[in-house]
Amino acid sequence: MAEKQTPHATGSTTQAGIPAVSDRNSLSVGSDGPIVLHDHHLVETLQHFNRMNIPERRPHAKGSGAFGTFTVTEDVSQYTKAAMFQPGAETEMLARFSTVAGELGSPDTWRDVRGFALKFYTSEGNFDLVGNNTPIFFVRDPMKFPHFIRSQKRLPDSGLRDATMQWDFWSQNPESAHQVTYLMGPRGLPKTWRNMNGYGSHTYMWVNAEGERFWVKFHFLTNQGMEHLSNAEADALAGEDAEFHRRDLFDAIARGDNPSWDLWVQIMPYDEAKTYRYNPFDLTKTWSKKDYPRIKVGTMELNRNPENHFAQIEQAAFSPANMVPGIGMSPDKMLLGRNFAYQDAQRYRIGANFQQLPVNAPKTEVHTYNFEGAMWYHHTGNRSVYAPNSFGDSWSDEVGAIDTSWENDGDLVRQAYTLRKDDDDFRQANILVNEVFTQQERDDFVDTVSGALGDVVEPVLTNAITYWKNVDATIGQRIEDRVRGA
Ligand code: HEM
Repeated sequence: MAEKQTPHATGSTTQAGIPAVSDRNSLSVGSDGPIVLHDHHLVETLQHFNRMNIPERRPHAKGSGAFGTFTVTEDVSQYTKAAMFQPGAETEMLARFSTVAGELGSPDTWRDVRGFALKFYTSEGNFDLVGNNTPIFFVRDPMKFPHFIRSQKRLPDSGLRDATMQWDFWSQNPESAHQVTYLMGPRGLPKTWRNMNGYGSHTYMWVNAEGERFWVKFHFLTNQGMEHLSNAEADALAGEDAEFHRRDLFDAIARGDNPSWDLWVQIMPYDEAKTYRYNPFDLTKTWSKKDYPRIKVGTMELNRNPENHFAQIEQAAFSPANMVPGIGMSPDKMLLGRNFAYQDAQRYRIGANFQQLPVNAPKTEVHTYNFEGAMWYHHTGNRSVYAPNSFGDSWSDEVGAIDTSWENDGDLVRQAYTLRKDDDDFRQANILVNEVFTQQERDDFVDTVSGALGDVVEPVLTNAITYWKNVDATIGQRIEDRVRGA
């Protein structure tokens, strides 16, 4: 007679919900004999185990996040008609924070830019703002993005990360100087995700109810205060607790210490962009706060931890293409390029119908003519599968200029942005290092850059030193003296 052991009163089931007989012993021919193939529970357990992984995000693989609420506290309705930005509106949302270059298991405290991705489940569909903890980026043409990410990842033969290729990419692409200055400064090592700001980084468009257009930059300023780790603290934490940032956020929310950020925007009147002294769509530059002071919009609070990290964070899919009425793109080539990239990645990483997963699904009704495919489960009933149709199934038919448009002219060309009077790659990096960093931060910056250049070989080392001398002659010299041991 079989010995019956049921550690839990209800036992477990197969994935079809049938009582599973044993989670400890596979079915065998006698206790010492071979196992048999028709042990469905064993077969299902082994097969599912083989399928537990999905591809990790190509950049921004390591991260975590939480749910929350965004509340509008001010009135910016003169700039945008977006329902989520109307006075008093409250919108459920999801945030995911991440490192850029490290893989899924990499330490949270490696020096890196941090991702700051937000999904707002608005009454007009999902709006995603997929930004970073810095207001700018390394490059300004999407053609360069895969090259940039590959240079931060691993060598093909050894599988090792390599400082020479990182510095080679940066020094070959001087527009990166501003962002690399941020990266090598305090923002490259935030103390926790709660202690960092977030930025939409790109210039977006806002359109109000009268159809007036404005250019806008989003700034989420932390209410926990900006705090940073030293190199030594970050190195120690990388060994002691690779999940330090993930743990910090989860524990803070679990104990009711909900982090919050205030959203501020910079607004540029539509026509001023045409004559502004530098290109306001260049992602490697910030806008002057003197020319375009920040205006407060509201507050985002994170107050609910995920119940299932894999379902709600790993399978979360953010995309700059998710824009709602009243918010639009701009001539920033990077933003336009990102428009394609994300959902393509997610169809590969998660599956064709990733948008039906609860974490990605909007709270609004979906009425799309894109049907079926792997894992489709929406019930559509007997409705038309084509448009236009004669049977009353609604379809869209707007024609003419869209309200989030801008003037374009010229032939199709492959060319960098036209330079304006104050466009150059080093000026804002120089301001950051000399006027924003404190003396201590400048000294730490020289330490960090010199350390990072330690293993770099020629001719890249000389190019990298020239790059820093172009940012600032004194800083560049200090770095050279340290690296070459003068
Ligand atoms: C042309 C330039 C870019 C391309 C092609 C690109 C592409 C991608 C791709 C394919 C992913 C993975 C998406 C996924 O698997 O779910 C990703 C993630 C991400 N990217 Fe970009 N990216 C670009 C520029 C940027 C910029 C400029 C920022 C910030 C301002 C940014 C912020 C992020 C963030 C935060 C994530 C992680 C989103 C999450 O938490 O799931 N990316 N990017």
